[in-house]
Amino acid sequence: MVRWSNLSSIFRNSWSQLRLSQSAEMSTRFTGIELGPPIEVFALTKAFNDDTYDQKVNLAVGAYRTHEGKPWVLPVVKKVEKQLAADELQNHEYLPVLGLDSFSQAATKMLLGANSPAIAQGRALGIQTLSGTGALRVAAEFLNRILHYDTFYYSKPTWANHKLVFLNGGFKNACEYTYWDNENRKIDLDGMLQDLRNAPPNSVIILHACAHNPTGCDPTPDQWCQIADVIEENQLFTIFDSAYQGFASGDLDKDACAVRMFAERGIEFICTQSFAKNFGLYNERAGNMVLVMSDTKEAIQIKSQLTLIIRGMYSNPPNHGARIVSTVLNNPDLSEEWKGHIRTMSGRIKQMREGLYQRLLKLGTPGSWEHVTQQIGMFSYTGLSERQVKHLIDQYHIYLLRSGRINICGLNEQNLDYVAKAIHEAVTLFPQMEKDCTC
Ligand SMILES: Cc1ncc(COP(=O)(O)O)c(C=O)c1O
Repeated sequence: MVRWSNLSSIFRNSWSQLRLSQSAEMSTRFTGIELGPPIEVFALTKAFNDDTYDQKVNLAVGAYRTHEGKPWVLPVVKKVEKQLAADELQNHEYLPVLGLDSFSQAATKMLLGANSPAIAQGRALGIQTLSGTGALRVAAEFLNRILHYDTFYYSKPTWANHKLVFLNGGFKNACEYTYWDNENRKIDLDGMLQDLRNAPPNSVIILHACAHNPTGCDPTPDQWCQIADVIEENQLFTIFDSAYQGFASGDLDKDACAVRMFAERGIEFICTQSFAKNFGLYNERAGNMVLVMSDTKEAIQIKSQLTLIIRGMYSNPPNHGARIVSTVLNNPDLSEEWKGHIRTMSGRIKQMREGLYQRLLKLGTPGSWEHVTQQIGMFSYTGLSERQVKHLIDQYHIYLLRSGRINICGLNEQNLDYVAKAIHEAVTLFPQMEKDCTC
């Protein structure tokens, strides 16, 4: 059985076996290589898969699960896949370096809205990328190599990959801006604005377009305006990371309102789009990168530089996922069907939030738990301490991140009582003061 204390040793053992077999050879160039740190979410998934306990629960994985706890291939995706398989005109030729144009145009329209002036005036440029991560990586390299930006700011806390992607993209200075008020479980807007005011001009600010990961807490429309004011005043550059459009609230337009407000104000920015969650196309790597410019003067030059960056990185993107998204978004009937699916997913998440909240309330679990229902998107930043998390993993086989982040999709009618009882016990046995964990 795999438990908390064994998580890091899983990684250490497999790599040290590799090192042993290397040292047995007479000579190798591959010596003195430092062991990289494990990636928490993948280590937890492995631990969960290896765990034989029948009531185990995976609240760590960043993917949707059905009422039955299963991955969901969206019916509209299945339908389009069948159509594509039967279509004699489909083939496996290379796509252009910047990908499938019908996909990028539809994705850009989904982001900025059908009546977007930026699209109508040719000021919005979309290119296909390797999902959201690939879009971030291309954006980072473009901003660093072509515009010579070298400082980026990410929210504290943020998605665990932002820092690595931007450093790998050539950025030198990684800085955090205040985001989360842990005590009151809300955004610390004053702290955030202050940090943005102190950032040097041309710093790149990564903002989560909606469903902030991991806190599940987004700025209000008024707070977004204040953020935009500081970004303009201080000449900062915005990257919106849009990984959850439609998935967050069930409404594509609502989830894009911050991005659209920036566009309406004439602020130039880049937005990276992922179709992993809202289409359930996790492993198909369907993504788009949108540049919104104030004029079209250098659009051709920009495209040429992006072409060179991608050509030298992975040459061209894959077809399958982008073709599915393009087929759906460009067909009104399929689009409506898909919108029904995103409402199903976001609706189930809301039900599970309520289910967990009501159970904790009924159990009289110490502390307040309204935040579980107030946060949006896939994740809840529960406020559980590391010690409490350890208890859940060790005693209940409930897997979640050390930070206390849970994936609400991992909850269902079969495990809600079990999880609520476990949280109740962890919080009761190890009150919040005991924040430090020596595990
Ligand atoms: C905030 C955020 N950005 C980007 C991504 C990238 O996802 P992908 O590369 O799978 O599209 C994720 C995935 O979990 C995310 O949560």
